[in-house]
Amino acid sequence: MDAPRRIEHQLTDKGYVPVYTTAVVEQPWDDYGPEEHQTWATLFERQMALLPGRACPEFFEGIERLGMSPDRIPRFSDLNAVLKAATGWTLIGVEGLLPELTFFEHLANRRFPVTWWIRKPEQIDYISEPDLFHDLFGHLPLLLLTTFADYMQAYREAGLKAARNGNEPLTELTRLYWYTVEFGLVHTPEGLRIYGAGIVSSKGESIYALESPAPNRIGFDVRRVMRTRYRIDTYQKTYFVIDSFEALFRATVDPDFGPIYYELKGEAAYPAGAVLDGDKVYHRGSGEGWAADGDV
Ligand SMILES: [Fe+2]
Repeated sequence: MDAPRRIEHQLTDKGYVPVYTTAVVEQPWDDYGPEEHQTWATLFERQMALLPGRACPEFFEGIERLGMSPDRIPRFSDLNAVLKAATGWTLIGVEGLLPELTFFEHLANRRFPVTWWIRKPEQIDYISEPDLFHDLFGHLPLLLLTTFADYMQAYREAGLKAARNGNEPLTELTRLYWYTVEFGLVHTPEGLRIYGAGIVSSKGESIYALESPAPNRIGFDVRRVMRTRYRIDTYQKTYFVIDSFEALFRATVDPDFGPIYYELKGEAAYPAGAVLDGDKVYHRGSGEGWAADGDV
């Protein structure tokens, strides 16, 4: 088998342009050098120091059960043994960002794609695309949770159904994924906690999402979320708060989540920072530092 390639976004005069790849590869674990293991250690230790009192308890339980540590980049095969026994999912190695439909197809087969390479030292604080640290540290702990794995299953089924009926519904589903799996907050008796992978894997956003006065924090509602644009280039203007992982799962299957995106077809989308009548507002954002345009 050829050595896996490192597929990254290309920097052009229009900014970063995403480059997609579909190959599934073996993790070249023996080829990771000291610098790459050190990058893992730095990121792992920094986030584990920052997240107590900020991330949800299920996240820490997941890290523990997976046996992740700062010592070295985990082996996919070790993680898979735990993951498979817990929820029947497996992770697979990929070379970079996947096209949306390919991604949905993997989820449909309980395969979670993980980028095999880790960011470079100069990208420690920010990388615009998912690398190994984001994918493993951010996503895997919650995939051990039955309710969350079930939510992902409901989500992937809807995604494939949507894809068979034209592209537009995928937009709504991508927003749902973005505001839950990547940037979700959960209400707990101790206060709001982070569960989204995009937040737990980011030093700056781990603090901003919970503590900054700038963003809105609004109660999760599946239709509302599917109509809300988001940011890919800055911290979020709005975070949506679920009551529990059970509630998140129920919201997507009961009543049947499938037809919702047809109801929404043709409805205008809300700006990322909007607060609407009827929103359950935990915090109304000050809007400080928000870019005036660029919601996607
Ligand atoms: Fe992600």
